[in-house]
Amino acid sequence: MSDSRRRIIAGNWKMNCSRAEAIQLASAIVADSNLNNNVEMLICIPHIHMADISKLLINSKIYLGAQDAHWESSGAFTGEISSSMLADYQVSHLLVGHSERREMFADDDSRVAKKFAAALNYGLKPILCIGESLEQRKQEMTLEVLKSQCQAVVDVVGINAFSQAYVAYEPIWAIGTGQTATPEQAEQVHAEIRAWFAEQSKDIAAQLPILYGGSMNAANAEDLLAQDNIDGGLIGGASLKVEDFLKIYSAAG
Ligand code: PGA
Repeated sequence: MSDSRRRIIAGNWKMNCSRAEAIQLASAIVADSNLNNNVEMLICIPHIHMADISKLLINSKIYLGAQDAHWESSGAFTGEISSSMLADYQVSHLLVGHSERREMFADDDSRVAKKFAAALNYGLKPILCIGESLEQRKQEMTLEVLKSQCQAVVDVVGINAFSQAYVAYEPIWAIGTGQTATPEQAEQVHAEIRAWFAEQSKDIAAQLPILYGGSMNAANAEDLLAQDNIDGGLIGGASLKVEDFLKIYSAAG
């Protein structure tokens, strides 16, 4: 982590929690967290719980995020919801291009770029998720894959839009597998992503928070977050356990 960049610990609840469980989890996070002004805490929750949880967070400094949204603001898109609807619930951040969406819900680079642009348009901060598969890593294609995922968004919104966004590097092989990238592996990739952004704009690259995601937990967070170019974490499984999530948050402080 660098002192000059914003630090972020973000939970990604994915498709978990009944209504009662969501309220319980968010209430415990609010009650037990000891927030530090230098580190942003964010929870990206299922859409259905936005109304309940946005009320719970109202007097806290914890940010509310969503996991996906359509690129149009309204229309005949059965089953979808838009960034403008999320903004009505004080949602401030939006994950775009999570690998589970890319792999299972046909979120290709062009859709990801449109979702990113729509989020910005409605005042949500997009968190662009990028990551390579195990196969791509074995074929030494990691950087090529990550660059093309970033380029597709830069082509649509321009480099300066990244002054209002974060990037999350999530190697697919590390997500939900318990197999974390080592701090050195993650740092190398983060430094290379930042160098790629610096080729387009040194200022943007210098301030762009790049989070790591993929089996980050209470035991490995400190070592990952100690790396110069790792500015925070996007946490799945461990974000559903209050104690673990708060330990990870403290490790960023
Ligand atoms: P994980 O998920 O922490 O459970 O690996 C991370 C993510 O998918 O954002």
